[in-house]
Amino acid sequence: MGKYLKKYWLFFILAPLFMLGEVSMDLLQPRLMGLIVDEGVLGLSNGGVGDTPLVIHTGLRMIGLVLFGCLCGVLSGVFANLCSQNFGNDVRKAAFARVMSLSFEQTDRFSTGSLITRVTNDITQIQNLVSQCIRGFVRTFLLFSGGIVCMLSLHLSFGVVVACAMPLIVVCVLFFIGRANPMFAVLQDKLDRLNNVMQENVSGTRVVKAYVREAYEKERFGDANDALLDTQLRVLLLFSYMTPIMNIILNISVVAVIKVGAIQVGNGSVTPGDVMAAVTYISQILNAVMRVNMIFQMVSRGAASGRRVKEVLDCAPAIADGAFDGETSVRGLVEFRDVSFSYPGMGAERVLSHVNLTIRPGETLGILGATGCGKSTLVSLIPRFYDATEGQVLVDGVDVRDYALHALRDRIAVALQKSEIFSTTIRENIAWGDPEASEEQIRRAADAAQASEFIDAKKDGLDERVAQGGHSLSGGQKQRVAIGRAILKNAEILILDDATSALDLKTEAALYGALGREHAGMTKIIIAQRIASVKDADRIAVIEHGSIAACGSHEELMENSEIYRDIYDSQLKG
Ligand SMILES: Nc1ncnc2c1ncn2[C@@H]1O[C@H](COP(=O)(O)OP(=O)(O)OP(=O)(O)O)[C@@H](O)[C@H]1O
Ligand SMILES: [Mg+2]
Repeated sequence: MGKYLKKYWLFFILAPLFMLGEVSMDLLQPRLMGLIVDEGVLGLSNGGVGDTPLVIHTGLRMIGLVLFGCLCGVLSGVFANLCSQNFGNDVRKAAFARVMSLSFEQTDRFSTGSLITRVTNDITQIQNLVSQCIRGFVRTFLLFSGGIVCMLSLHLSFGVVVACAMPLIVVCVLFFIGRANPMFAVLQDKLDRLNNVMQENVSGTRVVKAYVREAYEKERFGDANDALLDTQLRVLLLFSYMTPIMNIILNISVVAVIKVGAIQVGNGSVTPGDVMAAVTYISQILNAVMRVNMIFQMVSRGAASGRRVKEVLDCAPAIADGAFDGETSVRGLVEFRDVSFSYPGMGAERVLSHVNLTIRPGETLGILGATGCGKSTLVSLIPRFYDATEGQVLVDGVDVRDYALHALRDRIAVALQKSEIFSTTIRENIAWGDPEASEEQIRRAADAAQASEFIDAKKDGLDERVAQGGHSLSGGQKQRVAIGRAILKNAEILILDDATSALDLKTEAALYGALGREHAGMTKIIIAQRIASVKDADRIAVIEHGSIAACGSHEELMENSEIYRDIYDSQLKG
C-alpha cells in the first residue's frame, strides 16, 4: 500500500516536523516554570527576595510558547489528516475498482458483507493508523526521549527513578498488547458477519416480511451484534484494567522523584524549581510510554485491516484479460466446442458436459430445458462470466479468452434472468450501456421492448425515477426495461435469459416480432421455459442434464425428438 502513500510524501514529512515544534514547546515549559519558582518566587540568587517582573516576563514567554506550540499542533494535525484522508481515499477507489473486476466466484468467496466492511471500515482503520504513525507515534517518541534528556540534564540522580519505573511500565504495556492483539482480527470478522446479515435483510426485506420472519431475522442480527459486542467489550475491559495500574506506577514515580529531589535539595545540588520540572518530566515520559499502548492498539487494528484490504487489492481477477480487440471477418457467430463446465468448488460434478453448438450470425436460437439443467450457465460462458472448464467457446471465430474483456462484452448484450434495475430514471436505466444514446434511440428501444405504453403512463414518463432494486416497477415492467437496455446496446449478439417470463404471451409475441423486424442481423439467444416463447425461433436446443439432447426447428423437433414432444404436450395440448 506504500505506493498510495508516496503521492502524499510532502504532508507525510510536514506533519512530524510541526509535531517536533509542538513537543519542543511542551519540553521547554517545565524549565521556565522552574525558573519562576527558583528566581521569581524563592529568589535563590537574590538572597531570598522574589522578582515579580521576572515572574510576569517569564509567564508571558510561557504563554507565547504555548500559543506557538498550539499553532504547530494544529498544522501538524492538518497535514496528518491531509495525508491520511487522501491516502485512504485513493485506497478506497482502488479497492472498489478491484471489487468491480472480481469474478462472481471471487465475490461470493469474500461475501458481500465482508467486501463492504473492507472497503469502508477497514480502510478507515488504516487511515487512523497512518495518521497515528505520523502524529501520535512521533509525539510519543519525541516526548519520551526529549523528556529523559531534559530530566537527566537537571540532575543525573533523577535517572534512577526512570530506570526503576521504566521496566515495570514496559512489562505492563507488553502484557496488555499481547492479550489484545489477536482480538482485533476477530473484531473485524464479527463486523463482517453483522454486515452480511444487515445486507441480506435490507435487500430481502420483502421476503422476510412475507414469511413473517422478522423475529427470526432480528434474532440473527441480535446474535451477530452480541458477538461483536462481546469481543469489543473484552478488548475494552482489558484496557480498562490497564489505565489504573499504569497510574499507580506513575504516581509512585512522582513521589520517588520528589523524594530524590528533596535529598538533592538538601545537598544543595538541585533547586526546588528543578524538582518541580523533574516531576513534570517524569509524568511526560511515563505518559508517553503509556501512550505506546494506544499506538499499538492502532497498529494492531490497522495491521489487521491492512491485511484484509490487501487481500482485496491483491486478488488477481480470475477472468484474465486477453489482448484481442481487433476486427473479425464474421459478426454474430457463437460456437461451443466440446465445452464442459463445473462451478468452482464443485469438484468433478459437471453442470455442462461436452456441449457442441454453433449459432450462426443473425440466427435466433431458442434454449429450452428443465429448471436447473444448465441453460443460464451455458450462456454465461459467452460474455465470460465464467470460463469453460474444458473445451472452447468462440465468438466470431476467436476464443473468448483471447479477447480483451471490453471488446468481447461490447459484442454482447444480455438481459439476465433476474432483471437488475438501478435506482435512477427509466431513461438512464435503458441507456445504461450507452449513456450517449439519443432520445429517439431510447424511444425505439423502449418501443421494441414493448415498454413504451407503461412508460408513457407514468407521471414523468422516461424521467420517472425507479426505487432502489426496481421496487416501484412490476416484474414484467422491470423485465421490459432490462430488455430495452439490451436492445439499445445494439450488440451483434443478444442474450435473453428467461427475460420474458413475466410477460403475457401477446406482449411477448409482439416483442419477438419487433426484434425480428428491426434487428434481423442480430444473433439472438433466447432462453425460455415456455415452448410458445421459442416456437418461431430458427432452431431450438433442448438441454437435458447439461447436454444438448436435441436441436432443430420446431417442426423437426416435433418429428424427431421425444423429449420435445413431451414438453410440447405438457404445455400446449391443454
Ligand atoms: N454460482 C453457482 N455455484 C454453484 N453452482 C451453481 C451456481 N449457479 C448455478 N449452479 C448450479 O448449476 C446448475 C445449473 O444452473 P443454471 O442456473 O444454469 O440452471 P438453469 O437451466 O438456468 O435453470 P433455470 O431454468 O431455473 O434458470 C444448477 O444445478 C445450479 O444449482
Ligand atoms: Mg437460468
